[in-house]
Amino acid sequence: MEPFDLDDDTLLAAHDPSEMFGALYGLPEQLEEAVRLMKHTGAIFDASLVQTIVITGLGGSAVGGDMLRTYAGDKCPVPILVNRSYTLPSYVGKDTLVIAVSYSGNTEETLSAYADAKARGAQIVAITAGGHLKKQAWRDGHPVITVPGGLQPRAAAGYLFIPQLILLQQAGLLPNATAEIEETLRLLREMRKLLAPQAQTEQNLAKQIARKLYGKIPLIHGAAGLTEAIAYRWKTQLNENAQTPAFAHCYPELNHNEIVGFDVPQELIEKLEIITLTCSRHHSRVQKRIEITGGEVLADAACGQTELKALGESDLAQMFSLLYVGDYASSYLAVLYGLDPTPVEKIELLKQRLTDVP
Ligand code: PA5
Repeated sequence: MEPFDLDDDTLLAAHDPSEMFGALYGLPEQLEEAVRLMKHTGAIFDASLVQTIVITGLGGSAVGGDMLRTYAGDKCPVPILVNRSYTLPSYVGKDTLVIAVSYSGNTEETLSAYADAKARGAQIVAITAGGHLKKQAWRDGHPVITVPGGLQPRAAAGYLFIPQLILLQQAGLLPNATAEIEETLRLLREMRKLLAPQAQTEQNLAKQIARKLYGKIPLIHGAAGLTEAIAYRWKTQLNENAQTPAFAHCYPELNHNEIVGFDVPQELIEKLEIITLTCSRHHSRVQKRIEITGGEVLADAACGQTELKALGESDLAQMFSLLYVGDYASSYLAVLYGLDPTPVEKIELLKQRLTDVP
């Protein structure tokens, strides 16, 4: 039995002094504002030269790139890679568009990858709320998309994703997504009525999932394509918001390894809760795999299993619908553990220690 009642408003507020729940509630407005921000941007790079796209960033600033890569997989004529390191792959050159994303603008890996992109003569666009990335890109004459600051990077997913989507759309590298964005906004506004703290547990899917995950180790399963990036987002949100271990894997690859690993040790398997994220865009064979895996192959496994279906029609709406439930569920799980979902002291400590070391 969890120690906290998620329907107790005062208790929720007491555990959320930095207002993570407020930031979550504002996601639709954030997406809308990001669209407005991009209204007058126009074409800021030469798409005719672009043979590859590399999005470079870490953590909360990489999630927009992951989502773009999976969303664009069947739409964009050139390959997109998400780079999470100090250097860029050897193929990066003048025919590469490098999108450098850092919410703070001060992440050393991203600044290093930016310098690498510059040295190789790549076309560069920076997306940031400020910091060194903004200063350096301005100084070097590269376009900067400045997004509003003041949030945790992981709570700025809308600000960090939408500009990338619209950038490629304006350059003719992605089809127009206006209708998908509008559907996403409508859907998220509906969803938050039943995900926000004022919605009681019996109607609130995110609170129900948080209760299910309390005392468990979450294993989040997505599928190659739309839900792969969202499964990883769930994992990282569970890590950072709820400060708990969590793991993610995706179909069909997990059918070739992970499913074998549910036998021993029994006492640990009992602690696992699999959350399978599904959407209507899976490859038909992947859908079959999900059904057979949950219904037969793992039917007798000692772990819990929950399937969560995306809402909405379009690719974008389905991705964001699953992301939204995970963002809320991980924050409620923090509260169940008696924790504030906002601070990430270990990340800050590590960054601080690294600035002390040349
Ligand atoms: O969630 C976080 O705080 C981290 O994952 C950061 O996003 C990550 O450390 C990178 O920092 P930034 O997003 O400012 O580039």
